[in-house]
Amino acid sequence: MPPTARRKIRFSLLAAVASSAMWTPITLADEPPAALSGNAAHGAQLVSACTSCHGKGGEGVANLAFPRLAGQFGPYLAAEMHDFVAGTRHRAIMKFAVKDLSEQDLADVGAYYAALSTPPTPATAAPDAVMDQRARQLISQGDAANGIAACGSCHGPDGLGRGPDMPYIAGQHASYIADQINSWQMGDRHNDRGLAMAAVAKKLSTPDINALANWLSRQAPPVAR
Ligand code: HEC
Ligand code: HEC
Repeated sequence: MPPTARRKIRFSLLAAVASSAMWTPITLADEPPAALSGNAAHGAQLVSACTSCHGKGGEGVANLAFPRLAGQFGPYLAAEMHDFVAGTRHRAIMKFAVKDLSEQDLADVGAYYAALSTPPTPATAAPDAVMDQRARQLISQGDAANGIAACGSCHGPDGLGRGPDMPYIAGQHASYIADQINSWQMGDRHNDRGLAMAAVAKKLSTPDINALANWLSRQAPPVAR
């Protein structure tokens, strides 16, 4: 069940309980970690096993599709780590890396990376006038004829995200962006809230994916929150 659905159920259960005279505590087995607030100082003690892939400053590795984590929203990061363990997002190395962390640890690690203001690493993609124009169109207007919603309507006009569970995509590595959209197309990543991203991804052509990945990777990521 996607967390949004879980949250809806939780809220309707709480409403039902609140309106009844008798208080019954309710615990759902798979509560999303987004509800926990993170402690960045404790998170800092848990990331020594992460730097080999995500970098000392959370900058990731552009040519290996290791994502940039610096400045990303903490609750989003915690939810993704939860999903690797739950299996709705598949990547064995990531499941292995976080499987022994508690939900509170995940929130703490998320808070740690969210607070990092690491400068962007050089983009690997070169500008291309035609591709860049197509990317800008998809981000600001979408493509009504092909049923593609504007990326900016969810991720913000500059791709800087909206938090707490709407990630920034500007300044993310091109290889990683393309990999993730391909994962949604193949059904390998199916953890997004309300399946909004899965629906968008399935409508994107390979040239569109490349144009978006290349353009977005050359835009400035948020470097301080
Ligand atoms: C061996 C390399 C490796 C190690 C070690 C590793 N990661 Fe990852 N991480 C990846 C890769 C690759 C992905 C992208 C997974 C995919 O393709 O879905 C990823 C994705 C993530 C994401 C999702 C980012 C997003 O934008 O959705 C988070 C959060 C994350 N890692 C946190 C961590 C933390 C915290 C640790 C240490 C406890 C860690 N990783 C250790 C390689 C690694
Ligand atoms: C209706 C809202 C919506 C629209 C429109 C949308 N996205 Fe997303 N996108 C999301 C959500 C929600 C997530 C986070 C999914 C999750 O929770 O794992 C996401 C995640 C992503 C990610 C993965 C980020 C990461 O760190 O792993 C990429 C890349 C992405 N979107 C690119 C795009 C692009 C490119 C477009 C336009 C073609 C687009 N999105 C349009 C809602 C949307």
